[in-house]
Amino acid sequence: MKLKIAVLAGDGIGPEIMEQGVAVLSAVARKCGHDVTYREALCGAHAIDEVGDPFPEETFQTCLWADAVLFASVGDPKFDNDPTARVRPEQGLLAMRKKLGLYANIRPVETFDCLIHKSPLKDELVRGADFICIRELTGGMYFGEKKEGTDEAYDTNYYSRPEVERILRVAYQYARQRRRHVTVVDKANVLASSRLWRKVAQEMMTEYPDVQTDFMYVDNAAMRMIQDPRFFDVMVTENTFGDILTDEGSCITGSMGLLPSASTGSSTPVFEPIHGSWPQGKGLNIANPLAQILSVAMLFEYFDLKAEGQLIREAVRASLDANVRTPEIQVEGGARYGTREVGQWIVKYIEEK
Ligand code: IPM
Ligand code: MN
Repeated sequence: MKLKIAVLAGDGIGPEIMEQGVAVLSAVARKCGHDVTYREALCGAHAIDEVGDPFPEETFQTCLWADAVLFASVGDPKFDNDPTARVRPEQGLLAMRKKLGLYANIRPVETFDCLIHKSPLKDELVRGADFICIRELTGGMYFGEKKEGTDEAYDTNYYSRPEVERILRVAYQYARQRRRHVTVVDKANVLASSRLWRKVAQEMMTEYPDVQTDFMYVDNAAMRMIQDPRFFDVMVTENTFGDILTDEGSCITGSMGLLPSASTGSSTPVFEPIHGSWPQGKGLNIANPLAQILSVAMLFEYFDLKAEGQLIREAVRASLDANVRTPEIQVEGGARYGTREVGQWIVKYIEEK
C-alpha cells in the first residue's frame, strides 16, 4: 500500500518520541512492503515562534495531502502562565481538529499486566480493565459561542442532532467489534444539551438491538471508573466530559505514557499519544515513546492493516517483558533505557521477526 504521512512532531518531548514512531512505522513498512512518503510540518508553540500561528495554512495543506497524520504533542509552559497571550499552542490542536473535521476521538483505556502496580487503584479492581472512550471532538463548549469580557464570560455547550448521531454511530460500530456494550455518559438531569444526547441515543438504540445501551450521569461515571472500571466496554460522551474522563481513564491503568489515540472524521485521520508535551523531559532522552509507537499501530489498523498493527503491539509487549523500559516504568534496579534505546529495540524486534 502507498501511504502519505504528515509528521507533526510539535513541542517538548514531541520530536524525540516522533523520531521513534517514524522509525517503527518505516520498519513495519519495509517488512510488509508498504511505500511510505513523509512530510513534516510545524505546529504548536514551535509554529508560533517560527510563523506566528500554531496551525499554519501550510501545515493544514500538508494534512490534506496526507492519508494520515502522525502527531506527537504541543504545549509550552511559557504560554501557560500568561492569560494575556494572544495565541496559544493548544489553539493549533483545536484548529487542526476543526479544520480536518475530526469529530470522533477514540481513546482506548487498557491495562498492561506488568504495569498494574503503577496504577493508583488496587490490582484486583483494575486488572483486566479494557474499554474505549469515544469522545466527541469538534462540538460542545470547546467550539460553541463564547464571550470573554472583563466582568463576565461564558462558553456555550451547543450540540445539534446530526453531531450527536454521527458520534453515537461510531460508538455502536466499535461496540460491535467488542463486547457490545455502550454507555452513554451525560448530565441529562441538568443540561439541555445532554437531554438531546439522551433523546437521540434512545431513538438510535433500537437500531442496534444486539448492543446493550445504558446511560450514566457523568459524575457517576467518574466514580464508577475508579470503583469498577471493568464495567465499561465503549463509553461515548461529549467533548468536555470526554476530556476529563479520559485523563482519569489513562491514569487508572498506570500506563499513561502507553496510551495512543485516533481522531477520525470527514478528512485525514490523526494518530497521537494521549499524553502531553512534558516540557520538563524535553531533550533528556527519558520520555516513553510507546504511546507514539502504539499510535502507529492504530494508524495501520485504521487502514485495515491488522497484521502490521499486531506486529507493533507484539513488539511493544516484548520490550516491556524484556524490561527494556524508560525510567518511569523501569523495575527497581533494572537497566537504564532511553527514548531512543526503547525505540531502536522495537525496530530491531520488528526487523528480526
Ligand atoms: C486533550 C488535551 C486538549 C483538549 C488540550 C491540549 C486543548 O487536553 O487532547 O485531551 O482539551 O482537548
Ligand atoms: Mn485532555
